[in-house]
Amino acid sequence: MRKVMVLNGPNLDKLGTREPDVYGALTLSDIEQLCHEFGAANDMEIDFRQSNDESVLIGWLHEAAENKTPLVFNPAAFTHYSVAIRDAAAMCSAPIIEVHLSNPIKREEFRHTSLISGIAHGTISGFGANSYLLALRALLNL
Ligand code: DQA
Repeated sequence: MRKVMVLNGPNLDKLGTREPDVYGALTLSDIEQLCHEFGAANDMEIDFRQSNDESVLIGWLHEAAENKTPLVFNPAAFTHYSVAIRDAAAMCSAPIIEVHLSNPIKREEFRHTSLISGIAHGTISGFGANSYLLALRALLNL
């Protein structure tokens, strides 16, 4: 069974109550459940994690790099300014699919820059929770 890590950055633990008009009504555990259901149907083991702490995320990226584990990664606000997260992600040789619930390009200008896109295999944005499932599907076909 192929293992995939699904990593989530800051404030995503507040989904459901956080700006639901932007991010939707589902909680992060609803999204986790959907990912597990997709994994079960597609012979994929899903290791789903979230942290508000940059150093914790960097540790998980090091783990993914060491184990060559493919990633679905929503770096949240770190997308736009964390060189440290980008540098850690750049060490991963297995594919990374960057995901966003919203479409950052349609939003404030500071969200138009992603430091992650340049090292990701691809980016899926704007489909709410479905962004995660589309990313898992993309990994299946790589
Ligand atoms: C986000 C978009 C980011 O701009 C924002 O900082 C987030 C969530 C998304 O999933 O749409 O926290 O990554």
